Amino acid sequence: MHLPSVGIDAIALALPQKFISLDELALARGVPPEKYQTGLGVEKMAIPGFEEDPVALAVNAARQLFRSSGCSPQQIGLCLVGTETPVDYAKPISIYLHRMLGLPSSCRVFETKHACYGGTAGLFTALEWIVSGSAQGRSALVVCTDIACYPLQSPGEPTQGAGAIALLLSANPRLLAIDPASSGVYSHEVYDFWRPLQHKNAIANGPLSIQSYLEALTNAYKNWKERNPQHAPLLRSCYHVPYGKMARKAHQHRLSLEKKNLSGSAHKEEIETSLVFPAQVGNMYTGSLYLALASLLHHEAPLLEGSWIGLFSYGSGCTAEFFAGKVSEQAGSTMKKLHVEYAFRNRQKIDIATYESIRLQAEHKAVPLVAESIPIEADLSQNVVFRGFDQSERRLYQNVPLHTKPANTNR
Ligand code: HMG
Repeated sequence: MHLPSVGIDAIALALPQKFISLDELALARGVPPEKYQTGLGVEKMAIPGFEEDPVALAVNAARQLFRSSGCSPQQIGLCLVGTETPVDYAKPISIYLHRMLGLPSSCRVFETKHACYGGTAGLFTALEWIVSGSAQGRSALVVCTDIACYPLQSPGEPTQGAGAIALLLSANPRLLAIDPASSGVYSHEVYDFWRPLQHKNAIANGPLSIQSYLEALTNAYKNWKERNPQHAPLLRSCYHVPYGKMARKAHQHRLSLEKKNLSGSAHKEEIETSLVFPAQVGNMYTGSLYLALASLLHHEAPLLEGSWIGLFSYGSGCTAEFFAGKVSEQAGSTMKKLHVEYAFRNRQKIDIATYESIRLQAEHKAVPLVAESIPIEADLSQNVVFRGFDQSERRLYQNVPLHTKPANTNR
């Protein structure tokens, strides 16, 4: 099959420094721990502090991408941010990145939105920009950044999370080639999950959201099959992962559409390595599918070189896309250099009381006013934190050193 040689060249993550154990949350909520572990497939949940807002997370993921991939900000001609946690009605997160990464003035920047599909909207826009010839040899940066939030003690609480994923998209990609013209798409309007402008937390109709996700998968996959009747087998699959069990259910559902024998654990290997990272983070909304991809490639890239994998992106509301990617021949050596596992270093477990007080502060405490503006250099060797607002409600950020403590295995 003819495949234009465009796709994901590199990937990087930024995660909040704090997390909670879902076993401890279960205990605090009076729920059997198996419900979260097995019933939902979650183990740890990333908890962002005040200083880890969606802009800081996005900048930190993108700076890590430049540090690890060898790409320079000067090579970027398009910078898109997919998010459903915007910080302003008008000013997009992408323009903060433009400044804090030192992107060229001739770079096009904007934000893309459709719930968890927002990052995929950016990905396809960027791929088509490259295929069209507009890129003229330049690469695109797509960053997915979100904080997933439901009310404390609600059914959605164990399915929160946060983080950012940065994707470098280019011709002759070192990780995954994707043909933007051959995906399967499905959209229809539904109130399964929404985040009204006046609310900090999302509102979800849980059962309807699960039903809507599976219905969207059925239709996007059928559309993909119609467009690619002779496609090579998909050895692995990555799904949007609000929680691991949803992806497992989705995979079973897709196999049942193929009328495949579902007995035993024969198909487990097709998704399990993609769910290792998500179980340690929770729902990253726009970044969740790409966290699953990072997890899959981190664990299995050398084995999968030259093979096809399937990807399913779902955004509540709803729109969805099923597409295939071919793992590049140098994906194994590239993943080794990218060190996506660094994002899990130095994370610190907090107890449930601390988590609750962080959440209550975020809901009720005013963001600090910082008297003086803070000059910020596009210094890729440092991380960025949010400091507060100035008198005119401009957001202020500061560079801080990267963590220097040795890596530990406290993923
Ligand atoms: P719940 O009330 O915990 O649901 O809400 P439940 O009581 O049905 O339990 C969940 C599972 O745990 C069930 O398994 C139980 O059987 C099992 P299932 O029937 O699904 O296979 N269970 C146990 N297992 C082992 N031991 C036990 C035990 N007890 C029960 N003792 C729900 C779950 C996901 C609905 C809730 O957390 C929620 O509303 N989350 C937010 C919405 C969501 O994540 N929806 C997912 C699809 S929509 C989507 O992915 C889009 C999204 O990311 C947003 C966007 O697009 O921007 C959310």
